[in-house]
Amino acid sequence: MDQNIINPEILKTSTFLSSLPDPQLEWLVKNGKSVSLESGDILIEENVSQDAFYVVAEGDFEVIRQAEGKEVVLAVQGCGQILGEMSAIAEVPPTATVRAMGPSRVLKINRDVFNQLISNNPSTAMNLVRTAMLRLRNTEVMLNQREKLASLGTLAAGLAHEAGFDGVDVKACHGYLVSELLASFTRPDSRYGGSFENRTRFLIETADKIKQQVRGIFVTGRLSLYDAVPFPHGFGVSQKGSDEPDLAEPLRLIKRLKEIDFPVLAVSLGVPAYQSHFGRPSDKPLIGQKLPDEHPLVGVARWLRLTSEVQRAFPSLPVVGAGYSWLRHLFPYVAAAMVESERTSLIGLGRGSIACPGWVNALAADGVLDPRKVCVSCSKCSQMLRAGCAVGCAVQDAEVYQSEYREARKRARQVRRTEQQTAWSAGRRRKRKA
Ligand SMILES: Cc1cc2nc3c(=O)[nH]c(=O)nc-3n(C[C@H](O)[C@H](O)[C@H](O)COP(=O)(O)O)c2cc1C
Ligand code: SF4
Repeated sequence: MDQNIINPEILKTSTFLSSLPDPQLEWLVKNGKSVSLESGDILIEENVSQDAFYVVAEGDFEVIRQAEGKEVVLAVQGCGQILGEMSAIAEVPPTATVRAMGPSRVLKINRDVFNQLISNNPSTAMNLVRTAMLRLRNTEVMLNQREKLASLGTLAAGLAHEAGFDGVDVKACHGYLVSELLASFTRPDSRYGGSFENRTRFLIETADKIKQQVRGIFVTGRLSLYDAVPFPHGFGVSQKGSDEPDLAEPLRLIKRLKEIDFPVLAVSLGVPAYQSHFGRPSDKPLIGQKLPDEHPLVGVARWLRLTSEVQRAFPSLPVVGAGYSWLRHLFPYVAAAMVESERTSLIGLGRGSIACPGWVNALAADGVLDPRKVCVSCSKCSQMLRAGCAVGCAVQDAEVYQSEYREARKRARQVRRTEQQTAWSAGRRRKRKA
């Protein structure tokens, strides 16, 4: 603890205190007390009465509550935020613990100082009521949502187990929920956003809950190594301004996944709804999209390089790479070289398996694949998927899937027409206004 003076300017960053005039802020600093804390120090303890609240001047604090016998981090509060105001004012024990996440400093304001402040500044009292109500609402919504989502994951895993599956895969790629949370850099005050711990929490907790509640099933996942969406909206992307891959965070997460016993890990790249070629190097684009400037082989090489980086970092973890289908009948040679050189343990084949479901047997029997029977990376199956049609190979299984593809094309064109009309109407409205 120390008596360092806190700069009153810091108090202006708090919504609660920002309406106070400068002399009042200076008065508050003079009558408050500067308190320094180290990482792990408890500032406020759940259920232990206190007669003060705090304004954070430096550092971050975790607000923690016990739920189902486990610690739940409700929020992380940083500079300018107030802590412990509700229990100090209502004179009731705090409902959460507040813990320093690193060296930090707060301004401690005792209840009598606070009472004096309120009686002289009614607008501050109103701000306080607003802050308190918002926090109550957020806490309730967050605890409920967390419960529901984690329970849905556990329910799905339970059903899979009942149906005879040995394991479940928590999908952490392609822009779906878990993948979005991994990249939620712009929500620093949320339980699932901001810091690495917060962004990875949902994946870890869901895996943990499934393991605890569905006995005899293993939990793994498919993890996006590189979303190819620029920072701060993508995971595994350089945070220094370029949109190049940076595996520092994915590798840190994989280390954690290994610690919680993921027995195998499938990896992926890209968010298909944003730019599909990162995950699926192709010769033809989807309807309405342009072929990317990069050659598909550059995309395949990126897949191989990033998969290798993971396998090399974790030699004992079976890593499953993908992105081989563009190589057509030649992919087994590249895949064999990857396995042989310990750059991957297993390979997964996406479009190649849609085009030729029997390729494993064919390869085992003949030692080669028939070039006339493989995927030609035409994107038709992806078009069917996007249009909500049944998915199959419109080239190798044309009898069944050519009609589905025609329907997918019709739907895609309708969507394009609607988008163009909407853009045209918006343009006209803008012109009229101008
Ligand atoms: C029609 C279609 C459906 C897909 N569905 C899934 C899926 O449900 N889950 C998943 O993780 N990947 C899915 N993928 C991606 C593939 O698993 C794979 O990562 C991607 O196609 C690249 O591998 P490839 O070059 O062998 O096709 C899908 C791909 C296609 C073309
Ligand atoms: S439709 Fe068939 S050939 Fe075309 S990309 Fe899909 S699997 Fe490959």
